[in-house]
Amino acid sequence: MTPLLVLLALALLLIYLLSPLLSRDTLPGPLYARLTSLILKYHEFTATRTTYIHSLHLRYGPVVRIAPNEVAFASAAAAKEIYCSNGSGYDKTEWYDLFKVYDRRTMFTTLGKSEHAKRKRLLADRYANSNIMKGGVMEGIKQRARTFGELCGQGGKEGKVLHAYAFDCVTLHLFHPHSTNSLTDPKDSEIMLEVTFDSSLQNRLLSHYSPLLHRLLNTFMVSILSLKPRETPLADSFVLNTAAQPHASPFTLLHRLHSQSPLGQIDIAAESLDHMAAGIDTTGDALCFLIWELSRPSSLIYQQTLQAELRSASPDTPFDQLPYLDAAVMEGLRMFPAIPMSLPRYAPPGRTTIIDSYKIPTGTIVSCQPLSVQRLGPEKGGTFPEPDRFWPERWLKSEGETQAEFEERDRGMKRGFMAFGMGGRGCIGKHLALAEMKCLLREVYTRYRTLPDERMRAGEMEQADLLVSSRPAGQRCLVRFERLEA
Ligand code: HEM
Repeated sequence: MTPLLVLLALALLLIYLLSPLLSRDTLPGPLYARLTSLILKYHEFTATRTTYIHSLHLRYGPVVRIAPNEVAFASAAAAKEIYCSNGSGYDKTEWYDLFKVYDRRTMFTTLGKSEHAKRKRLLADRYANSNIMKGGVMEGIKQRARTFGELCGQGGKEGKVLHAYAFDCVTLHLFHPHSTNSLTDPKDSEIMLEVTFDSSLQNRLLSHYSPLLHRLLNTFMVSILSLKPRETPLADSFVLNTAAQPHASPFTLLHRLHSQSPLGQIDIAAESLDHMAAGIDTTGDALCFLIWELSRPSSLIYQQTLQAELRSASPDTPFDQLPYLDAAVMEGLRMFPAIPMSLPRYAPPGRTTIIDSYKIPTGTIVSCQPLSVQRLGPEKGGTFPEPDRFWPERWLKSEGETQAEFEERDRGMKRGFMAFGMGGRGCIGKHLALAEMKCLLREVYTRYRTLPDERMRAGEMEQADLLVSSRPAGQRCLVRFERLEA
């Protein structure tokens, strides 16, 4: 053995001995994960962390040690413990520092409970369903959905149109009347394109794991290593200018932050930019994966059932009277959660932490990834039978099922549904996102049938990791819209 190999072996042994999980060797998982996080990091850097962890769950079950100090869980009970215990669950890890805006902590990047609760109190009411369903927001969303529907009929419009729709809807909610119109205005479209499908994954991970190496390599990264930094000058200046504008509509987040919060101008801009970014790729991708799935020949029956429901209802039928639309949206978010990746938290100090019957030492990084919670079958410790089958009917009462049986089954599925996270730190934009998705699907499937475009290649619609969200691996989703007879 060369001295280098001996040193390496000693270093690995030391890591193993120092691992806070040493006494928990019963944790399932690959042997190398007890010794090193290098394999996990390799998958992070190659944008395959989510599928890698999912493959470990398929092999080892709902509890897997993925690094010396990190354990992944996939059961509904574990998700409840990590994200809901004592209201908002365990504290976030420093991994969220990657998302600081203008070097400020926003609600999303606060780590501890009390800091988070303070910030959330300032703005939560703008995201309540009652505010979203009010005239200003709903009318604006419907109007943008109509514009989208008209563009589908014109054909030939390509380039992240769903993300443009999501961008215009979220800026409506944040800034109206200073919102964007990227569906039809090329200048606003440029801002959207700068923010969406971010390609700075490797650069930002390096800055997180090794700030020194990141600084040393800085000048070579873009030219030689092709590691792009995240640069969004158009979006920055749009938000900085808009956040300073007076007279935002009362339903907007900006109005709330100007009128009833102690935040200064930069913090208002940072919070707004964070919500803007959080509302583009997520809703855009969720719609994109769902429309793609509904367009596939294997889903023809589901598309037709959706069209039948929407076309037989009047245009202003409330969403709660469109059960199939709801089922299709839930199933899309279950199969293709727009944030599929681990949401890391620290096992808390001051108490014994037991998750899925395993005793977890304080300071261990624990997480669930929505993809695995939603796509692990009951035989592997998950919730959903036939988890890889797109089947909206699972969200509806089946023939021969009593109402009480259905309600119990439904409660079980909702416990294992994690597309919007869970607990007090779950997605604040959930009602806005659902309203956007439903308005757009109603517009599309009342007027059109959708088919996959022949130019799409196998593998292009696989989910590829960004920092926390995902995007289609081919970075495009081409669908044909054919007008239905009136
Ligand atoms: C289908 C669309 C969406 C999905 C799947 C989604 C998913 C999520 C998830 C999983 C989280 C939890 C993240 C964590 O624990 O680290 C989250 C948090 C958050 N989301 Fe969404 N989101 C969507 C749309 C939106 C929209 C439209 C907005 C804003 C306008 C938004 C704003 C936020 C914010 C501000 C947080 C942080 C909440 C907190 O820390 O209290 N999201 N989202």
